[in-house]
Amino acid sequence: MRPVATGGRCRAAVLISGSGTNLQAFIDRVALGTLSLDIALVVSNRADAYGLSRAAGAGIDAIVIPHGDFRSREDFDRQLGGELESAGIELIILAGFMRILGGEFVRRFEGRIMNIHPALLPRYPGLDTHARVLAAADSHHGSTVHFVTEELDGGPRILAGRIPVRPQDTGETLQSRVQSVEHRIYPEAAQWFADGRLEYLDGAAWLDGQCLTEPVVRDFDL
Ligand code: GRF
Repeated sequence: MRPVATGGRCRAAVLISGSGTNLQAFIDRVALGTLSLDIALVVSNRADAYGLSRAAGAGIDAIVIPHGDFRSREDFDRQLGGELESAGIELIILAGFMRILGGEFVRRFEGRIMNIHPALLPRYPGLDTHARVLAAADSHHGSTVHFVTEELDGGPRILAGRIPVRPQDTGETLQSRVQSVEHRIYPEAAQWFADGRLEYLDGAAWLDGQCLTEPVVRDFDL
């Protein structure tokens, strides 16, 4: 169980490796007052991640932990974990963070790590999801927020956003629409966690006391 925040907002860290449009969606919603989360820290494993400029623009503390500086994945994970604990982070939001987190890290923060994956999981874990959807001529595509476990893109699913695949779609058009979906569903799922409505228990996601055997699904006509 996650520690209960004492009176304040849930302290979250957003972990990035690149452009950080999902980070920006969180920043914008906090600024609008529609997301009650304290984005206390942004961590990037790459010094050139554009998301770092977004954090700076919003006055959010940001650090770079270059993975190349570490002898092993475990050493990197330990450094990352130490930074998150020092900052009193309660929720770890992976947003385009292109590093696989090892078992020791995942167990250390069990039930407090979320990821968003650009596919309707359990379909298409891994890379190149848009091309795979087109190759399979799927009728729908989307994105899924899930808790992180040791299984890559395999943790309990929380919230999925679904869009129709249109005949004229390309990898680029799908990517753009899927990202728009992500910017809506990821803050919503994080809000559930911050409100104490969502938790990870016995290897499953629970929302309002109900075990989510399937994720909540939102349809978007984008
Ligand atoms: C998102 O599409 C997300 O699904 C995947 O990485 C991408 C990150 O994009 N995990 P951004 O850096 O938030 O723009």
